[in-house]
Order: sequence, then C-alpha cells, then structure tokens
Amino acid sequence: MTEQAVTRIQIGGSEGAEPYEVLVGRQLLGELPGLIGDRAKRVAVLHPEALAGTGDAIREDLASQGYEAIAIQLPNAEESKTVEVAAYCWKALGQTSFTRTDVIVGVGGGATTDVAGFVAATWLRGVRWIAVPTTVLGMVDAAVGGKTGINTAEGKNLVGAFHPPAGVLCDLAALDSLPVNDYISGLAEIIKAGFIADPVILDLIEEDPAAARTPEGPRTAELIERAIRVKATSCRAT
Ligand SMILES: NC(=O)c1ccc[n+]([C@@H]2O[C@H](COP(=O)([O-])OP(=O)(O)OC[C@H]3O[C@@H](n4cnc5c(N)ncnc54)[C@H](O)[C@@H]3O)[C@@H](O)[C@H]2O)c1
Repeated sequence: MTEQAVTRIQIGGSEGAEPYEVLVGRQLLGELPGLIGDRAKRVAVLHPEALAGTGDAIREDLASQGYEAIAIQLPNAEESKTVEVAAYCWKALGQTSFTRTDVIVGVGGGATTDVAGFVAATWLRGVRWIAVPTTVLGMVDAAVGGKTGINTAEGKNLVGAFHPPAGVLCDLAALDSLPVNDYISGLAEIIKAGFIADPVILDLIEEDPAAARTPEGPRTAELIERAIRVKATSCRAT
C-alpha cells in the first residue's frame, strides 16, 4: 500500500496561544486518536444531519480505540448555530459526565465547526476540541483561527468565543460528497486568499478553471493548502 501524502501547516504559537497543526490530505481520520491523546476518556463527535454516516463511522472507530465515544447530531447549516442547539449539546455532555480532559470533535462545514468550537469553549469553561472541516470554506477559513460562535435572533455570530482547536484535519475525501454550489462558494474564499496574499493561487486557477471547480482537480490539495497558509499568516498578524 502506498503511503498517503499529508501536509502539516502550523498555526499560532505566539503570545501565549498554544500552536496547533492543520493536516491536509486524503483519508486522514486515522490521525484523530493521536490528536485526541490518551488523557481523554470520552469523545463527543458533533456532526450535521447530512453527515450522519460519517459521524457514526468516526464514533465507531473511536469506540474501537477504547474511547467512550458519543455522536451528537446537529441540524444542517445555520439551523445548528443556535443557543437551543448549544443547550442540547451541553445536556448530552452533562449526561455522559464529560470532564475537562475529554475532547469534542466537530465534523462538518463552517456552521458545525463554529458551534462545536463554541460548545467546547463553554463546557467547563473550555475543553479541547478538534475540527474536521468537510467543506472548502470550512478547511480554508472557518476551522482555522479559533473563532467559534452561534447566531441570535438579532444577527449572525453575535455570541461566541476565541477558542482555537487542538488540531484540524482536512480530509480531502470529504469533499467528494459536497454539493457543487458549496464547493464553488469555498473556491471563492480561495480566490480571495489569492488576491490578498498569494497570486500563485490565481495562476493555478487560470491555468485550468474547469479543474479548479471540482475536488478531483489535480491542484485541489495545493489550492487548499495555499489558502490555509494565507489564513495562518493572518492569524499570526491578529
Ligand atoms: N469561524 C470562522 O472564522 C468562520 C469563517 C468563515 C465562515 N464561518 C461560518 O461558516 C458557516 C458557513 O460554512 P460552510 O460554507 O462550510 O457551510 P455549512 O456548514 O452551512 O454547510 C453547508 C451544507 O453542506 C452540508 N455539508 C457539509 N459538509 C458536507 C459534505 N462533505 N458533503 C455533503 N454535505 C456537506 C452541511 O450539513 C450543510 O447543509 C457560516 O455559519 C459562517 O458564519 C466561520
């Protein structure tokens, strides 16, 4: 069996913030136990309805590694970023006696990782969490940088906390099931990174725009990695 290539991008690590790595590659879920570590006894896997199969597969895998793993299913997209959904998660954590050394895993798009990070920031005043973004926007923006939060009736992201993850796993295989519109809106974020700081991104897309529009394109990993590096630099600057 050939070994899968994994790129590791370091984020943060200055001014008292713990550094963490963003891993980019295919079939990366085997990296999860290493990030969770052996101090954790329980793991809660928060996932949207659209990724019920993935969430359950991750839960089963973690259970087979000896963790007490639970899956908490959230509504899709913005429906999940509410205080009611956060309260539902707090209840599930309370019922499993989730402690300060246990770990939350958020598997999904930016909405899911925002709420998973927020639940991690607020449970016992902060527990470790790992982001497993499954959209392009989630990989290049939402899961990187530590902004977590939920919406209120008055507006988006009005309640939240800075609570960086302990690690981010960008498994490119997840993008195969992403609806094309979500793929393209994530690509817009990559193009934005190109204009801000890395014009090679723009060259790569211009070379073959059709290939850039699908996860099977030969430059997908490079485009995502370059956009993450741009975001990593902005995290260092703020
Ligand atoms: N924290 C930050 O720094 C930050 C930055 C940018 C955006 N955001 C937030 O990200 C959210 C938008 O994130 P998004 O664009 O990733 O969308 P999303 O999380 O709303 O996901 C879009 C839809 O795709 C589904 N989905 C996710 N991954 C899938 C997959 N692999 N296959 C099939 N379906 C899948 C989701 O369940 C949802 O229905 C917004 O709430 C925004 O505020 C946060």
